[in-house]
Amino acid sequence: MPTSAASSSHPDETAYDRHRLRQWLAGDARADGVSRRRLLALLAATGAAGALPLSAPAHAAGDTIVKPLPPEKFVRRGTNAETRWEALRGTGHHTPNDLFFVRNHTATPALRAHDWRLRLWGSGLRGGPAEDRAIEFGYDDLRRLPSATRTAFVECAGNGRSGYTTQQGETVGGTAWTQGAIGVARWRGVRLSTVLHRAGLSPYAVDVQPRGLDAEYVSGGENLGRVRRPLPLSKALHDVLLAYEMNGEPLPPDHGHPVRVLVPSWVGIASVKWVGDIEVSRQPLFSPWNTAFYRLFGPAHPEGGSAPLTRQTLKSAFELASGATFPAGRSQVLRGRSWSGAGAVARVDVSTDGGASWRPARLDERPRPDTWTRWSVDWRPRTRGAAQLLARATDTAGRTQPDVSVFNTEGYLFDAVVRHEVTVV
Ligand code: MTE
Repeated sequence: MPTSAASSSHPDETAYDRHRLRQWLAGDARADGVSRRRLLALLAATGAAGALPLSAPAHAAGDTIVKPLPPEKFVRRGTNAETRWEALRGTGHHTPNDLFFVRNHTATPALRAHDWRLRLWGSGLRGGPAEDRAIEFGYDDLRRLPSATRTAFVECAGNGRSGYTTQQGETVGGTAWTQGAIGVARWRGVRLSTVLHRAGLSPYAVDVQPRGLDAEYVSGGENLGRVRRPLPLSKALHDVLLAYEMNGEPLPPDHGHPVRVLVPSWVGIASVKWVGDIEVSRQPLFSPWNTAFYRLFGPAHPEGGSAPLTRQTLKSAFELASGATFPAGRSQVLRGRSWSGAGAVARVDVSTDGGASWRPARLDERPRPDTWTRWSVDWRPRTRGAAQLLARATDTAGRTQPDVSVFNTEGYLFDAVVRHEVTVV
């Protein structure tokens, strides 16, 4: 059997190839040794893209997000919504669900818990011929398994991206987030390790790949299939949850209802929403989300990109609007939060004079890994006019926020100290 549709015009072979390409697009097949460009060219040639099975319908025609997005709480950015930091003031450690940022590649799908199924499949499950190695769990099955609760942030790898442009004068791709593509919630669900063991994990398994039920993602004219990104088994067994609750409520539609993956401390793309299936594999897996996207590209990085992004970087933000005003001569409490993907926050230093002098901030809660730490400093502005507030965190892994973030073309992992512009009146 020839391996390329282009090598034969026999109708059966064309059908076979179309099927195989569809499997590749849907993530059911590997593209060993064949470039994505090549496969997509083949796909266009067979016309298979139009024949793809439909994914779940979106909630309402015309919008990509279901929950209300009042402009005093959110900034709309395409299919996404960024939380305003000033709206976090006084909200406590956990971000309320109605304030949590939303990052949707396409649109929130309409899914119901009672007819949702999670399918685990692949060569990394034990027993039977390859096509039989599959097991399904319903929503109630998951709820009957022992539950676990974790407080953790979900943060987009591109959070803070606009800083590359506004502070460093660099042009980067992607959504121009300021700092609000992060939220912290108390997630409750079942450990992925519990589900993998119930499914019959093979000792030879190396990777798992959750895939969402939202619509296929088309980028630059290429249909990349449904959102999916592999995780090494070591992380999957360590602390990953299949979450069905967010801050004590059933997972809201925009955040993955009925079940999402929650990968603590990693870039947000790992936390696949609306998960419908998980491939368990004896071979390393690849998808566009760990090859073309979510690696660092640019002059300071290896040719072909860095390794796929895993842990989040270190950041700090003030609970203030950009351009906030303060009355001169009056005492203020400035509040903010810092967080790291590599450990807990160890200290935070703040400057209210554009970086000329620094003093330690009070840590207002016990720092923990996987989440932010709230802090505060007192400030009595004296001189009227423009001022810059800066906060610099150090984490327990010994990382400190730099003055300048190393450029990468997609603007991921912006970790430089942010210069927050305010006015004293
Ligand atoms: N999962 C699916 N199925 N589809 C998506 O578009 N976006 C990812 C991740 N999981 C996404 C997804 C990205 S890039 C991020 S940052 C987080 O979800 C955002 O989670 P949130 O919308 O609950 O804040």
